[in-house]
Parts: sequence; structure tokens; C-alpha cells
Amino acid sequence: MAISKDLKEFFKGFSKLSRDERYQRLVEMGALKSQDADFLRAGGIQDLGLAEKFVENVIGYFQLPMGVATNFNIDGIDRVIPMAVEETSIIAAASKTARWIRESGKITTEILGRLIIGQIQLAEVKDFDRFKMQIEEASAKFIEQVNEVVAKGLVERGGGVKSIEVRKIERTDGKTMAVIHVLADPCDAMGANIMNQVCEFLKEPIQGLTGETVTMCILSNLVDTKLTRAKVEMKVDPEIGMKIQEASIFAEEDPYRAATNNKGVLNGIDPILIATGNDWRAVEAGMHAFAARDGQYRSITRWRYDSETETLVGILEAPIVVGTVGGVTRLHPTAQLSLEMLEIESAEDLSRICACVGLVQNLGALRALTTVGIIEGHMKLHIKNLTLGAGAKEKEIPIVQKRLEEILLLRKRISLSNAIEVLKDLRSGKENVYNT
Ligand code: MEV
Repeated sequence: MAISKDLKEFFKGFSKLSRDERYQRLVEMGALKSQDADFLRAGGIQDLGLAEKFVENVIGYFQLPMGVATNFNIDGIDRVIPMAVEETSIIAAASKTARWIRESGKITTEILGRLIIGQIQLAEVKDFDRFKMQIEEASAKFIEQVNEVVAKGLVERGGGVKSIEVRKIERTDGKTMAVIHVLADPCDAMGANIMNQVCEFLKEPIQGLTGETVTMCILSNLVDTKLTRAKVEMKVDPEIGMKIQEASIFAEEDPYRAATNNKGVLNGIDPILIATGNDWRAVEAGMHAFAARDGQYRSITRWRYDSETETLVGILEAPIVVGTVGGVTRLHPTAQLSLEMLEIESAEDLSRICACVGLVQNLGALRALTTVGIIEGHMKLHIKNLTLGAGAKEKEIPIVQKRLEEILLLRKRISLSNAIEVLKDLRSGKENVYNT
């Protein structure tokens, strides 16, 4: 665990600071080194040669805005959380909701299980029972071999392949498929590369022993053997507590609402994965599959209000398998800087942070949706983007923004065409506001 830090004072008024003051504050609190602040100030990574190391046919970088979520205290430790995301209000909502929890409750986490899953498919086996028996008898030898040859590095760090299981899948055409699950502890790696190599390595010995044909090998993103759990417990008024519980039940029972609820959760998680160079598609796939584990797609979060103790409890439990070593996480300077800012000591710490921000983001959304509505929190900030999108020049921006806020208040709706219209009126002199 990281050294316990009290950053409360540093978080105060953070959103009101200028960008330069933010760099200064982050350097003061030890979240950024001054050379990292310079790197960010200069626009971040410029080296196209590095891009060539990541992908093919490189033509440039796609820059996303990166901000920091403040006020998070997770398992008693204050964290500054980097988030790379294009959507307005996500970082503001996360920081605001984290402050609310900080004032009246706490966020804690747990890791349930350590193993990731690799799959070896045999599309058609002649005699499943015989096959299963042969694999089970040989599994200790297979594990020893693969740990010696492929996963040696992991074994040295306390990880490696731990067990092998055989699953039977009855096909609709009457044939029998066998799937071998290889379970391994990837330590601080996300584990995709090593797991794929482990499975490929086992292909020959499995075929040699059983005479059956291996048809493919790949890791699984539905890692229900390694779950991260985040829990929020806080005192709230009965009215808001009950509203959040009702919103939660809606998302638990209705897949249409569950999809939007879980998108909101991922609003909190994906930006951290991107900032730290992690594979957000893998986490998304795993989370959605886990959300449908009983056959119906449901919310990945659950909120309940206890009126006796006036306590709201929220839980998120999901596979969030991330890495802090290898691949982009170590090569990309911004990912490196983000990992340092988080002051994590293991990949599990990063999973815990992701789970918490996802849960907190969900609470922020449910609170807004069941009280003021999404427009006020979301669109008000979006006005800024509409103003820029309409082409307002520096001098015109505050005037257009103010007028759009008035329109929003009046009509409860706002769009780009409103912004264009306001700007047109302003320029044609209909609204003589240059003098205001
Ligand atoms: C918007 O990006 C996310 C929300 O739709 C999430 C939700 O509905 O819970 C606000």
C-alpha cells in the first residue's frame, strides 16, 4: 500500500485554479515532478518514433484531454486520479461526488481472487470423459513444464500457472466440445501476452497425450476468478437515499437502463485505463459479460438505503484486470507519469482505484438523475463546448454562454443550433452585448 497522505488541503478550490496553478499545486502535493509538469505544459508526447513502436501505419497521435479527479480517499489513502477523456463533466462529477462521500462516509475495496483465465479449445472431442481424465492426471506435470519454460518470470515473482480445469460444452449439433481453462497469477501484468503464450505452449503436449485436436488458444476477458470490489458507505438524508435505491433497482432489473447505468460506471473507469496505458476494451468486455452472468444483463452496481441507520451502501464487483508493468504502461511517458501520480504499488491497487471511481461516478449520475436531472449538471458544462462549436471568438464566448444558460433555464433544452442563432444575433447587432 502507498504511504498514507492527507491531501485534503491541497484539494481545496482545485477546480477554480488556473492551469498553471494546478501544475504548481500538483507539484507541491508531490503528485507531479516539475519535469512532468513541463512535459504536460508543452503538450505531452511528441515523439512519433515511439508511436511506431505501438501500432502500424502511424500518421500521428490522437490527443485526448487529461484532467485529475480530486477528493478521493480510498481505503484511508488520499489519491490524485488522472483521467483522459473527452466527455464534459465526468471529472467534475467524480470530484464533486468524492467530496460528498468524504464528508459523510468512506470508500473501501477488496480483491477477490488472483487468477486470470486462458482458454484452450478442442472444438470436437471423440470421448470427453477419457479426455478429461487424461488431462487431470497430467495437469501437475503440464503446470510444472509451462512454469519452467514460459512463466518462469512470473513464478519468480510469486505467480505463474496454478491450475488446469476441463469444461464440457454440449454443441447444438450433438457433438462435444472440450475447453481447458488454464488459471494463472499474472502478478502486476495484465497477463494477456503471457497467458496466450502459456496456452500455445500447452497445445502440443495436450494433442500428444490425448490424440485430440486443439483448435484455438486465447485468454478470456470474463475473469470471474479475479474480482475487484468497491464499497461506499455514507450517511445521507432518507429522501435521497431512497431515490438512489430506486434508481439502482431500475438498473438491476431492466437491461435497457442497466446498459446506460454501466456506461456511466465506465465513464469513471475508462479514463483511468486510458491515462495509465491499459487495455480498456478488455475491461469493458469483461465487465459487460460479468453483468450478464445470470442470463440477464444487469447493473454492475447495487445501492441500498438503510433508513434505520440512515446509511446508503453501494457496491461494485467486477473483473478489472489491469497491468502496471509491460506494454504501453511503461513505454508511454504520460502513462508512466499517471501511474506515478497514483502512487500505487501494485496492479491490484490500480484495479481498486478504477472500481472506486466507477462506483463514485455512478453515485454522482444517480444523484443528478433523481434530483436536478442530467441537463443541469451535464448540459450546463456542455454549453461551453456548444459556444466553441458555434465558432464564438474569445470576446464573444462569455456573452454567448450567458445567453445559452438563460435559454436552458427557460426551455430546459439547449442545442448547437441555439448557440449558432445566439452568435448570429450577436454579430448582427440584434443583441448589442459587446458593450456589456
Ligand atoms: C452519461 O455519459 C452517463 C449517464 O447516462 C449515466 C447514467 O445514466 O447512469 C448519466
